[in-house]
Amino acid sequence: MERTLILLKPDALQRGLAGEILARFEAKGLKLVGLKLMRMSPELAAKHYEAHKARGFYPGLVKFMTSAPIVAIALEGIGAIKICRNLMGATFGADAAGGTIRGDFGVSRSFNLVHGSDGPEAAERELKLFFPEGLLDQDLAAYRWIYDPEEELKAK
Ligand code: RTP
Ligand code: MG
Repeated sequence: MERTLILLKPDALQRGLAGEILARFEAKGLKLVGLKLMRMSPELAAKHYEAHKARGFYPGLVKFMTSAPIVAIALEGIGAIKICRNLMGATFGADAAGGTIRGDFGVSRSFNLVHGSDGPEAAERELKLFFPEGLLDQDLAAYRWIYDPEEELKAK
């Protein structure tokens, strides 16, 4: 099982799309292990986006992400990181394929609705930043219908 951090960015909440976006991850079969409505502080934004510090878009990105509340989500599943990135689509809404979150709901380069960890190390680091108190492990009854118990759940 793998865990990943998803952020619903301020544009998702301001446009009333938070529930619809969360529903896509849920319907896919990912397990919710953390969920928080919060305002990102400049300090947290600086830590979260430290890899982008030297980029031209960095000041605008931090301003955007701290401008209004966000929802932080922790999801769990086999291959969760890649699955979430696929559901999100390409970074910029105008380029993202139809059927993906960014492809269906946005056109902007900056306001792209959702963040997802891009690898296992990033996921571990980001989950600690947004959920320092830890995550909730729920025993999901539906797991035996989401995954094949004889194959996929056996090794886990
Ligand atoms: P994210 O980190 O939010 O999941 O998105 P990503 O991996 O697809 O994109 P990344 O390259 O990590 O960029 C982080 C966020 O910075 C904003 N951005 N704006 N205006 C621009 O040229 C530009 N480039 C990046 C986007 O909000 C992007 O999600
Ligand atoms: Mg990224």
